[in-house]
Amino acid sequence: MGMEFDDLQQDILNDARRHYSEETVDHFMNPRNLGPMEEADAFAEFHGPCGDTIGIYVRLNGDIIEDVRFITDGCGTSIASGSMVTILAKGKTVEEAMSIQQEDVLRELGGFPPEKEHCALLAVMSLRKALKLVNV
Ligand code: FES
Repeated sequence: MGMEFDDLQQDILNDARRHYSEETVDHFMNPRNLGPMEEADAFAEFHGPCGDTIGIYVRLNGDIIEDVRFITDGCGTSIASGSMVTILAKGKTVEEAMSIQQEDVLRELGGFPPEKEHCALLAVMSLRKALKLVNV
């Protein structure tokens, strides 16, 4: 049973690697900054047209983003996108992070199939919504 499950997992992974970059598979399997943050300065959720949601928590030190975390009920690429957008935002000023684009997330993750590119936009829109709530 355990053996079969491992084989199945391996099959799924091999299939994922045909469509997604190593970076995307890595961020999906080992997402960075995933999970709620205590004592956040701001939290916002953005709902995508696909029906999925990404929530972003932000904590500031002055106007520097000291910590940023995400939650999602979305697909694998939304997990990878949330992971990457938090990495890109961390340590930046609010203004700098506001200008992070969908293309930046896609580039860092080695691109998505076209039908999945909106997942990266969802992560970026969630970040911007959270940043709009902080007064600097
Ligand atoms: S976030 Fe909805 S399909 Fe990826």
